[in-house]
Amino acid sequence: MRFLQAAGLSWATVNTVLAAPAKYGLDRTLRFKNDGTFQLAVFEDLHYGEAEDLVWGPQQDVNSTRVMNSILDNETPQLVVLNGDLITGENTYKHNSSHYVDEIVQPLLDRNLLWASTYGNHDSDFNLSRHDILKREQKWSNALTRQDVSTSSSGVSNYWLPVYPSSGPAKTPELLLWFFDSRGGNYYQQTTVSGTSVAQPNWVSQSAVDWFTSTRTHLCTKYGRDIPSLAFVHIPVNAMLAFQQSQNDTGVRPHYEPGINDDDPLAQQGYTAGQGSATNDDDPVYTYDGEDIPFMQALLDTPNLMAVFSGHDHGDDWCFKWDTKLPGMNLTGNGLDLCFGRHTGYGGYGSWERGSRQILVTKEMLKRKAVETWVRLEGGAVSGNVVLNGTYGKDWYPAVPDA
Ligand SMILES: *[C@@H]1O[C@H](CO)[C@@H](O)[C@H](O)[C@H]1NC(C)=O
Ligand SMILES: *[C@@H]1O[C@H](CO)[C@@H](O)[C@H](O)[C@H]1NC(C)=O
Ligand SMILES: *[C@@H]1O[C@H](CO)[C@@H](O)[C@H](O)[C@H]1NC(C)=O
Ligand SMILES: *[C@@H]1O[C@H](CO)[C@@H](O)[C@H](O)[C@H]1NC(C)=O
Ligand SMILES: *[C@@H]1O[C@H](CO)[C@@H](O)[C@H](O)[C@H]1NC(C)=O
Ligand SMILES: *[C@@H]1O[C@H](CO)[C@@H](O)[C@H](O)[C@H]1NC(C)=O
Repeated sequence: MRFLQAAGLSWATVNTVLAAPAKYGLDRTLRFKNDGTFQLAVFEDLHYGEAEDLVWGPQQDVNSTRVMNSILDNETPQLVVLNGDLITGENTYKHNSSHYVDEIVQPLLDRNLLWASTYGNHDSDFNLSRHDILKREQKWSNALTRQDVSTSSSGVSNYWLPVYPSSGPAKTPELLLWFFDSRGGNYYQQTTVSGTSVAQPNWVSQSAVDWFTSTRTHLCTKYGRDIPSLAFVHIPVNAMLAFQQSQNDTGVRPHYEPGINDDDPLAQQGYTAGQGSATNDDDPVYTYDGEDIPFMQALLDTPNLMAVFSGHDHGDDWCFKWDTKLPGMNLTGNGLDLCFGRHTGYGGYGSWERGSRQILVTKEMLKRKAVETWVRLEGGAVSGNVVLNGTYGKDWYPAVPDA
């Protein structure tokens, strides 16, 4: 923005300029590259804005920016996904809580990258509003984040994006990207009569599920086929916990679902640990009671949905193929792959090496519903490179170091 001000443009002019990005070289249309590939980089759990009155808080954010720069020096994605918990709302002030967005997106603006967000449980709190985060993101034309479901109970970041062929008119997408809001945290500026925060449910709402199923049907009719797709949601679904807890050579195996698996048991949609009652800090706010079953059912009912990517559990970064009826669940998987990303931020718990899940789709691989994915670590190494294809879960891979 600074160069525009230096050029003597007013804020009104700046906004007009941003509304007409094509003239300045930013094409907001997502496209495959000429070589037939499309890559996404997932930055999750950045947790900016912790302990801003102390030295280590802002230092932590400087570190997280360094992580993103390091990843983007090694990878060249066509889209960056900020997959929830951009900011830690518990620690921020009402007057400027959404301003952390400016700091978060700087590495993306520097490279003129497009981005799309989902919001996490820490993106809503007494002093932080996910609606304000969206407004702050949308100051830049690089932000593709939207709110397509206006029902107040559905959160904010529910929307979809098309990815078009490398050339020609942007008419029929080759790939669809779905983004869901798993909500959580506390409602903005609300308190109970006793003065405590008011918890927001932490699963994808029925209204968002209804929007998803009707939009999916509409798009299939419009394009005449079920276009292959990927989905992003901050909090993982219960199938990931059921798989992790399954016994006897199933569960997360180091050579078949390579990744760190230190959050065990993991926290899924519908469950919130701790501080549920005034008398016991360990009481959960929400205990799991199948709240995400309609969402999981809708995912399974989506033809050509290849994989779903979540964050939230910083100590897990594996992928698994859901192709069975898992213990304790009635739904039967159909081969859908479910993945964690890698904790990217220095904010939030955990000191595993920071990194970012990369997702690569090629036109050739789409025909086989295959997706390649790996984690690029802050130090530059590649970790857990796998192909989510028909034999994922049977193919042997090197184990990922637990660090
Ligand atoms: C920032 O990163 C450096 C280098 O990894 C590390 O030594 C330091 O502890 C980090 N500081 C914070 C506050 O996270
Ligand atoms: C909310 O932010 C205001 C200042 O903007 C601050 O005075 C107040 O302590 C904050 N409240 C909480 C619960 O963080
Ligand atoms: C928000 O305000 C606080 C206190 O005034 C300050 O310490 C912090 O750096 C500000 N954060 C942002 C992102 O502007
Ligand atoms: C695991 O194997 C043991 C011994 O074969 C068996 O008793 C047990 O029921 C199995 N557990 C599960 C969850 O399949
Ligand atoms: C599974 O289905 C049975 C029969 O409809 C029902 O009683 C049970 O509550 C369901 N369990 C779960 C975890 O949904
Ligand atoms: C899936 O990918 C792995 C790793 O590249 C490969 O070994 C395996 O043969 C592939 N399976 C299929 C069905 O293509």
